[in-house]
Amino acid sequence: MSRVNIVVLAAGQGKRMQSPLPKVLHPLAGRPLIGHVLETARALAPQRICVVYGHGGNALPEALRESDLVFVRQEPQLGTGHALAQALPLLDAAGATLVLYGDVPLIEPGTLRQMIDGARDELVILTTEVDDPDGYGRVLRDRQGRIRAIVEEKDATAAQRRLREINTGIMVLPTRRLKGWLARIRNRNAQGEYYLTDVVALALRDRVRVATVTAHGPWEALGVNSKLQLAQAERAWQQRHAQRLLDQGVMLADPMRLDVRGELACGADVTIDVNCVFEGRVRLGDGVVIGANCVLRDAEIGAGTRVEPFTLMEDAKVGERCRIGPYARLRPGNRIGEEVHIGNFVEVKASEIGARSKANHLAYIGDTTIGRDVNVGAGTITCNYDGANKHRTVIEDDVHIGSDVQLVAPVTVARGATIGAGTTVWKDTPPGGLVINAKTQEHRAGWKRPIKKKVTGDP
Ligand code: UD1
Ligand code: CA
Repeated sequence: MSRVNIVVLAAGQGKRMQSPLPKVLHPLAGRPLIGHVLETARALAPQRICVVYGHGGNALPEALRESDLVFVRQEPQLGTGHALAQALPLLDAAGATLVLYGDVPLIEPGTLRQMIDGARDELVILTTEVDDPDGYGRVLRDRQGRIRAIVEEKDATAAQRRLREINTGIMVLPTRRLKGWLARIRNRNAQGEYYLTDVVALALRDRVRVATVTAHGPWEALGVNSKLQLAQAERAWQQRHAQRLLDQGVMLADPMRLDVRGELACGADVTIDVNCVFEGRVRLGDGVVIGANCVLRDAEIGAGTRVEPFTLMEDAKVGERCRIGPYARLRPGNRIGEEVHIGNFVEVKASEIGARSKANHLAYIGDTTIGRDVNVGAGTITCNYDGANKHRTVIEDDVHIGSDVQLVAPVTVARGATIGAGTTVWKDTPPGGLVINAKTQEHRAGWKRPIKKKVTGDP
């Protein structure tokens, strides 16, 4: 079949989500539910993609803003049959129409292709068997196993409810017959809605063949109607993603304890320990090791770098063979060179750090340019904020900064200098030499510690 229209139904409210956000905008793996459906739709290279929206006003077209989509408003929302009818004027009658649901996000392009390829002048319904068919429409078949109708759970008899073959909602229809069928759908049912599923019985009445295709796995058909189902769909997506990473040769300590909320690209021999979260676009070079409980958001990590447990980073570019963490926090905008060490309880923001430089313990480095081979001692902080504006600190190559130093920006420490422990550097320092603040140390031999006063009534 060459010409395919795709209609994505997404106008419903999703009452069971208990949320003001339109259901199809709830995130799955860091992206709105409907984003997954649209990506799958695009993979089929259809004639056009039409999105039926309604509940939540313009929230949906505003959130999507993609130029290849045609939006049609359904107001009020009278059911899935009524929703498809709104898109009818936009469809190319010569081809087939594939109906996708904005709340069935895990459907795979391969399955849809199988439905479209087989379809001539017939109706094709995607079904699957599930252990818990609660809430889904059930597929009714005759003794020969031919599909007769779909009955919604609310309209089903007790015997029908025991059927485990469900309607995924996804179907391919001959477009030129749609107008007639949709006009004949009635809303005399438990929900008072125009059910698209009634086209099965109508097609049979018109002696049009109705075929069924079975989804590869029950997870493909998972419909998201509640937060529980959203969480289940999230797990299903994550498990499939973990499987793909393992197939590519990424070592996951536990495929059940990985969360990718965006794109994760990995080189050869990458190892990821448990409970890591990857958000946005993350690229891990060859041989990268990510320790347990790390969160990486929009980060690029060079080959051979180890990110130790409990590290959080965002918008970071980290060079090769570095050691970051444990307990490091890289706030946005860091560009880190090769073989750099950022240790525990070190916070770095909007800074450039040259090759082989180290800040191993308890430091704040903000708005700073650090050269090569610099050592930043424990407890050192850049005072980058004067209460109104941020200023930069420059630390040139081969500088050694002792413990507990304050660098009051704007300030430059020229190459090769050593800064003594506890120094407040508030003016630029020349190259080389030692910088210390004049301080005195006394010893008062007869000094007595204060003694706690007794207050009446104290125990
Ligand atoms: C629907 C199917 C059911 C199937 C299930 C699979 C019907 C009548 N029932 O039930 O057989 O097992 O999906 O997940 O089709 N929508 C609109 N406009 C409306 C109503 C709904 O655009 O007026 C959209 C919703 O936004 C949603 C999709 O259509 O994306 C399905 O609607 P929903 O109300 O969730 O149907 P289900 O009860 O899940
Ligand atoms: Ca649904």
